[in-house]
Amino acid sequence: MADIRLLVPADAAAYATLRLQAFEQHPQAFTSSAEEEAQKPLSWSVQRLTPDPSKPHDAFWGAFEAGDLVGMVGLHGRYRPKEQHNATVVGMYVAQTASHRGLGRALLQALLAQARQWPTLEQVDLTVTAGNLSAQHLYETCGFKVYGVLPHAVKVNGQDHAKVLMVRRLHDTPTQARG
Ligand SMILES: CC(C)(COP(=O)(O)OP(=O)(O)OC[C@H]1O[C@@H](n2cnc3c(N)ncnc32)[C@H](O)[C@@H]1OP(=O)(O)O)[C@@H](O)C(=O)NCCC(=O)NCCS
Repeated sequence: MADIRLLVPADAAAYATLRLQAFEQHPQAFTSSAEEEAQKPLSWSVQRLTPDPSKPHDAFWGAFEAGDLVGMVGLHGRYRPKEQHNATVVGMYVAQTASHRGLGRALLQALLAQARQWPTLEQVDLTVTAGNLSAQHLYETCGFKVYGVLPHAVKVNGQDHAKVLMVRRLHDTPTQARG
């Protein structure tokens, strides 16, 4: 049984390793690239996992199996006064060795449960590469709805990919949603 919890600075090395693996194995799924990631010092991950009172809606969750970090997801808040009720889901990844066992859904449910507790937060958005049907299915069954498509959003090895734009109102309980 996996353990889902907030990541802390002591998880930085495992977090950096899992990010690099994600970007190497799924270049089309992420806007960040393995090349960029490989340049980042460990201090970048330590800082990212250190709570920052000026960014109260920034948080990262990990899924652990037998003590090993095998999945992750993050939330980035927006903090300008007119948009501080929004935050963006980032970096959803479950290692192939642990996939199809409900960890992706459990990570997203943990994120949504926490997000609902933050009083100013009203909606969370995300993007998913067009054609990534497993991820899009997961998001749809957790209550996210498609509100648009950005054509030619990213270039991976010279090939354009569109991004599907999705949003979930936090306090709505859509029928069928499991998150
Ligand atoms: C997408 C991803 C996070 C799903 O993680 P997971 O732990 O395998 O997902 P779960 O086991 O919680 O399953 C969630 C849903 O996704 C579906 N799903 C997962 N992998 C699937 C696949 N390869 N094909 C079809 N459906 C799939 C499951 O059927 C499940 O839906 P269900 O409960 O209705 O059956 C994982 O496959 C992954 O990291 N993929 C590569 C990176 C990526 O695409 N990240 C998303 C970036 S936006």
